[in-house]
Amino acid sequence: MSTFIRLDSAGCTAIWETSDSEAPLWRYWGPRLSDGVLPPEQLRETRTEPTFSLHFDQPLSIFPVLGMGWFGQTALLAHRDGADWAHAITRCEVESVDHGVIFHLHDDVARLFIAIHATLDPETDVLRLSTKLRNDGETTLDIQSLAAGNLPLPDNAQSVRSFGGRHNGEFVPIDDVLSRSLWRRENRRGLTSHDCFPGAVVTCSDGVAFGAQLAWSGNHFQQIEWIDDGRWHWQFGEWLAPGEVRLDAGESIDTPDMLATCSAEGADGVAWAFHREIRKGVQWPGGAMKPRPVHLNTWEGFYFDHDLDALRQLADAAAEIGVERFVLDDGWFHGRNDDTSSLGDWWPDQQKYPDGVAPLATHVTGLGMEFGLWIEPEMVNPDSDLFRAHPDWVLQISGRPLLTARNQLVLDMRKEEVRDYLYGQIAQLLETLPISYLKWDHNRDLTHAGNHAGYREQTLGAYALFRRFREAFPDVEIEACAGGGGRIDAGISRFTHRFWTSDNIDAVSRGSIQRGFLQFMPPELMGSHVGASPAHGTGRRQSMAFRSSVARAGHLGIEFDLRKISDKDKARLAQSIADYKHSRDLIHQGRCWTGDAADGVSWTAFGDPSDLMVQVLRVSAPTFRFPPPLRLPMVHRDRNYRIDINGQSGTTMQGEWITRSGLPLPRMNAETALWISLKAE
Ligand code: DGJ
Repeated sequence: MSTFIRLDSAGCTAIWETSDSEAPLWRYWGPRLSDGVLPPEQLRETRTEPTFSLHFDQPLSIFPVLGMGWFGQTALLAHRDGADWAHAITRCEVESVDHGVIFHLHDDVARLFIAIHATLDPETDVLRLSTKLRNDGETTLDIQSLAAGNLPLPDNAQSVRSFGGRHNGEFVPIDDVLSRSLWRRENRRGLTSHDCFPGAVVTCSDGVAFGAQLAWSGNHFQQIEWIDDGRWHWQFGEWLAPGEVRLDAGESIDTPDMLATCSAEGADGVAWAFHREIRKGVQWPGGAMKPRPVHLNTWEGFYFDHDLDALRQLADAAAEIGVERFVLDDGWFHGRNDDTSSLGDWWPDQQKYPDGVAPLATHVTGLGMEFGLWIEPEMVNPDSDLFRAHPDWVLQISGRPLLTARNQLVLDMRKEEVRDYLYGQIAQLLETLPISYLKWDHNRDLTHAGNHAGYREQTLGAYALFRRFREAFPDVEIEACAGGGGRIDAGISRFTHRFWTSDNIDAVSRGSIQRGFLQFMPPELMGSHVGASPAHGTGRRQSMAFRSSVARAGHLGIEFDLRKISDKDKARLAQSIADYKHSRDLIHQGRCWTGDAADGVSWTAFGDPSDLMVQVLRVSAPTFRFPPPLRLPMVHRDRNYRIDINGQSGTTMQGEWITRSGLPLPRMNAETALWISLKAE
């Protein structure tokens, strides 16, 4: 006898049909249904047997598996030396947990136990799915693929937006039409990657959008496949290398969480759910986020050329214009004069810092700023004391050459002695210096993941080190960086407090990169810096007003030699910092909407519908004689709004007029930005 299990949040509903002898069948995943609404009957009673089909109808379940009547993508590919490859759930028990259920599934023939956790957060509208698989047999189980979660998409799903890119060019939107062909993306770079963000958004013909992302900082796959009843099946999981997961008798594996949501408000509604979920998971020092301090990062201003006096002067100049945290980037440690050496030797360079980093750190803290330090723990240069002492500590494959990238190799984070060494070196710095911030970098992809493929364990090893630092130094914030945006994901966000979004700080490039980021992550975690002109990443020249306006949309920082700019630019920058401080609470705690006006104008609104800060960007020159109006869908139609543009007091306008006809914009040249404040009266 089947029963229905229904989970609700404010905006979403999930319903399964369960029986004690098979995996629960998906009956509904979508926008919130009214209380009491359930499927009128059991699914198989509504479906006739099609021609040339099995007598036993197998609809999409929460754990669809190959072999016994499911011909779609399988949640599990595994075998025991060629046997036990066809799976089917023979028993199902349901356990209730807070806001969800655990489905305990057994395959008594192949001797597998599967536990699927499904919780729907009532506040964030995010459904979390994860899967545990235990080998209950007596021989080894070889796992080729195991899904974290399986979801249905409705038959009116039309398109999927995922994100690609590269170093210096993250979050490039890729729009694909959903068809009867399999849609699949895979990341095999060993960390989250610049070119395959682990998430996507699906849009339906009625404007409803579905989103999903995998909370994982390693390899992954996701796929969407059309199924015979007209719906689609969305599956997410880790991408596993051959032989990577082999479970001995009694051993188990836990997948990362798949986070999913849906919204009748489209992609913005999906972003809002993800922002709330990620916000909930960030472990802030002291239990709550403090206003995100303005950064000064030394990288593009100084690179490896550290001079103590110059850095002190830089700190003075930064404090003067309102900077609140000074981050000493790469170049501070033993022998590090360029990117060819020294990673792994985590003690201050004697030439540059004869008395250690303390004189600079105390100078910075004496100015009232926090002091942060750059590290890249998982890496080692062949030219380093560490590698000379422990060549066996790097990830390698016997008989294969060591392949370098940025002249570096990757340490084997599966080894406890490697983690202990890194912890010891860095903890020593944290214990002896006033460091309240670490920028944790990772500047290459993985190639040699060990003789026995260990991508997954490498990620778990890195997480263990992050966890150890967080537990020992709970007041130290961490920034996740991997050559810019190579490690942005919901898995690492449990240990970190900021993402370095991209090494490309050019304000034009940043406009679209930041928009992609905001689809999955909240603005307070988005490191956004004012860079130099010309931009180091692109060579483009941009005004200080444009650069600083673009950077204000996230967690603001500065990344050039402040001592070398004109008084006019310095005053402009100081004003932007003051504006940022004025609006950061609204931007960092509210909601976020994005959109496009006509003629190449794009916008992002932050806050809540009665108090909004809207960033308007124009990248290319106008082709219209008159600026397009800015229509904002989220304002209250029945209220009047006070409107200020770039801090200049403006007019009052009716909400309905703003939504329907639009706010008239002033003329904007190419590469300019505006910040518009709208406050309901
Ligand atoms: C890559 C990062 O993204 C940069 O910001 C900088 O920290 C360099 N690494 C330092 O090597």
